[in-house]
Amino acid sequence: MKLKSQLNTLIKEAFIKAGIDAEPISVSEATQPQFGDYQFNGAMALAKKLGKNPREIATDILNALDTSSLLQKAEIAGPGFINLWLKPEWIASECKKALSDERIGISKHQEPIKVVVDYSGPNMAKQMHVGHLRSTIIGDTISNLLEFLGDDVIRQNHIGDWGTQFGMLIAYLEETGNEGVAQLCDLEQFYKEAKGRFDADQAFADKAREYVVKIQSGDHHCLNLWQKFIDASLGHCEDVYGKLCVKLTREDVKAESFYNEDLPQVIEDLLKEGLLQESNGAQCVFLEGEEIPVIVQKGGGGYLYATTDLAALRYRANVLDAKRICYVVDARQSEHFRQIFTVAKTSRFVPEDVRLEHVAFGTMMDKSGRPFKTRDGGTVKLIDLLDEAVIRAKEAIKDRENYSDEEVAKLAKIIGIGAVKYADLAINRESNYIFDWDKMLSFEGNTSLYMQYAYARIQSIFKKHNGPVEGDIIISDTLEQQLAVMLLRFEDILGRAAEDTSPNQITTYLYEMVTLFMRFYEHNPILKEGVDEATKMSRLQLADLTAKTIKQGLELLGIEVVDRL
Ligand code: ARG
Repeated sequence: MKLKSQLNTLIKEAFIKAGIDAEPISVSEATQPQFGDYQFNGAMALAKKLGKNPREIATDILNALDTSSLLQKAEIAGPGFINLWLKPEWIASECKKALSDERIGISKHQEPIKVVVDYSGPNMAKQMHVGHLRSTIIGDTISNLLEFLGDDVIRQNHIGDWGTQFGMLIAYLEETGNEGVAQLCDLEQFYKEAKGRFDADQAFADKAREYVVKIQSGDHHCLNLWQKFIDASLGHCEDVYGKLCVKLTREDVKAESFYNEDLPQVIEDLLKEGLLQESNGAQCVFLEGEEIPVIVQKGGGGYLYATTDLAALRYRANVLDAKRICYVVDARQSEHFRQIFTVAKTSRFVPEDVRLEHVAFGTMMDKSGRPFKTRDGGTVKLIDLLDEAVIRAKEAIKDRENYSDEEVAKLAKIIGIGAVKYADLAINRESNYIFDWDKMLSFEGNTSLYMQYAYARIQSIFKKHNGPVEGDIIISDTLEQQLAVMLLRFEDILGRAAEDTSPNQITTYLYEMVTLFMRFYEHNPILKEGVDEATKMSRLQLADLTAKTIKQGLELLGIEVVDRL
């Protein structure tokens, strides 16, 4: 349920009734329970515009406000704030409705659109690094979220499978044969050895150069080797995807090489639009007011990362027909995206109304604040990182309950991977983020374990209760009211998170909601002796809706819940 927009409608109607001719201003969540559930703070801004005193305006709005449906009362406070209290019976019936709905009352977009989400994008020649981990986790969540809200989401994995380094790599693969294929699980090492050969042996280097040309001209032997290399490399990425439980599949792969044939056309069309200029032998697009151009073709005829991205933009907007395209890529590529988006719009490769967004994220740091590396300064292999998460999760939970070995193994996987994902998603994506095992595997604070624990706790209440749950929800105190309103806010939160492509709005919400539930549960026991039947039933239902909301929230983040913890 879109709680805020329902309240905003009431305010808008009050504006009209009170004869206030101004753009509507949104209500906001109350900052303290004594200020009600929501607040309208727009009177101050209106005062300036209308040349009236804010309290006077607030009074006019208040007098015109319909308090017959969802509002219990509205009061003016301070210089002209309007505090709004929702009607307990209305809240109760909305929670009841949410409980009986499999989408817990969350509606789908009325006008769904096609959205391309470009994420993960590992390079086949190099080890997948932590930057790709962040892209994969954040991109998958954004895709889940938009899909849940009804958009038609097309996941695109823009893998780097083309470029001159492949000549050297396949020449080395040819030389090392099956042993080489087996070695591809450590691309870093393979690359190092190939480079070693390249630097040391002139004949090998010549062959590598020759193979670059040969792949590009479609030579069978070389393309076969190249394909073998890509398959093995992509296979290792898929091991990571499998462990991470993300939804990317082979079908989502639209590699850089997919656009090869379109590249000459990109250049030709830029030329036709009058956007190309030669500079030091290269073909460039100079953007207004900028000194550094976008290079789209090198002097020798080769194309660049930007050229491929322009072809991909065109494909996505015109063939896939996307109306919104989100690039979940490291913040260090901001310049690149800003430039190619501008070129795409100026050249009319992409229609004006298509939303192009760089969903940028910061760098993953270690505890001492340095970019995340192995002890000897190498790239951390993601698969090792994820395996370590599972081992550590096992340690964190093994003594909590009398789990069977099988149960611990299963739980550790869900919890370990969930912890890594949640920790990443819970920070503002644009900030750099400190990878800290102890923090992410804690039962306290804004962690996946805190949410999973609350969920499991509610499941155990239901197990103990072991009977039907029926009757009304009755909101009888402030904590109940706060929790119920919080539960009803979920759709507003999801809407904002989707609009801003910011998963941390979901985690922040979950943390606040679960903390509120814990307080509610502490003060309002459910199964304790002496709690009357009607109250018990009501509280059970609020707990149930809490659990369902946690489950849905975590599911969007690609994290499973567990029944026992
Ligand atoms: N392969 C690139 C990298 O590792 C990421 C690709 C992002 N997507 C794109 N369309 N450029 O930096």
